[in-house]
Amino acid sequence: MILENTPENISRAAKLLRSGGIVAFPTETVYGLGANALDAWAVSEIFRIKQRPATDPLIVHLPDLSRIESVADLSSPTTRRRLEQLNRFWPGPLSVVLPKQLCVPDAVTAGLSSVAVRIPKHPVALALLRACEVPVAAPSANPFSYISPTTAQHVVDNLGAEVSIILDGGACKIGLESTVLSITSEVPEILRPGAITAEEISAVLGVKVMRSLGTVAQGSAPAPGMLREHYSPHTKVELWDRSDKLHRGRVAFISIDGSQPAGGRQRFEIVRTLSSAGDLEEAGSNLFSTLRELDQLGLDLIVVDTCNREGLGAAIMDRLTRASARS
Ligand code: TXA
Ligand code: MG
Repeated sequence: MILENTPENISRAAKLLRSGGIVAFPTETVYGLGANALDAWAVSEIFRIKQRPATDPLIVHLPDLSRIESVADLSSPTTRRRLEQLNRFWPGPLSVVLPKQLCVPDAVTAGLSSVAVRIPKHPVALALLRACEVPVAAPSANPFSYISPTTAQHVVDNLGAEVSIILDGGACKIGLESTVLSITSEVPEILRPGAITAEEISAVLGVKVMRSLGTVAQGSAPAPGMLREHYSPHTKVELWDRSDKLHRGRVAFISIDGSQPAGGRQRFEIVRTLSSAGDLEEAGSNLFSTLRELDQLGLDLIVVDTCNREGLGAAIMDRLTRASARS
């Protein structure tokens, strides 16, 4: 059930989390499906509801840095220094992979010796995290490998029967999942591009971060952000290769900045523009909701525009490449 984000409802949701229940809540990136990260049974419910393979680790959400050492091991001076530098991005759309504390159940980390930690910026998420007083493990609140939800209604559409509290926080401002950055080895590595860009992180850490190549075969992946087919709608998606190729059937086109195949033979049943001003932030925030909307129309194909992989463009192209990877 969708609940308005009143103080009473936030406190009800916090109680449910503390007693081992599951709560869907808004963040500035996407909606999350939360459970007490220290309660292995509650965490296993997340995997059941999402139909998520147990090999796929979760992000642990905290309201601030004060209790981060209850889940992450900061005994290495380099880790501590880097985390202090990265703290300028928090609260915000960044998840940092750190060595974990033993008390974090294997269910959360898929048995890895590291844990991903994030302090989100959404006021409802922060209020909930403060009120529940436990670290909250939360993946995106979508069925495994479907598009992440950016509104409370998206969560209802996919998981409504399984989740008793869905806190409403409006449409997510960023609309793309957080940047996942690992600092567990010498060279920091971006495992999933997001709104905090490689360029920004390199500048703050004073070292060039690696960008993970990001695709490993389905089934053999340690991290789902790295699965090739992820974030896919049911409808086939193809990247616009700027040719005048003719597609059969009912075809939609998603334009990033308003540009679209001009004067060609192809007829598009629907054209959607993510940002007519060509603003990548606006485009990113509209991407998942547009894919979901078009996915309900029973089309034969969605052709999507591409953009430069610089800055936020890296995150947008990452999601589009994965959405189009299903053959
Ligand atoms: O924006 C977000 O990050 C949202 C909101 C709810 O916080 N959460 C989210 O979670 O997108 P999820 O589970 O859909 O994606 C988490 C990503 C996965 O790619 C996972 O592999 C990676 O983080 N991850 C988590 N723990 C990890 C670890 N210990 N090592 C490497 N990657 C990890
Ligand atoms: Mg996800």
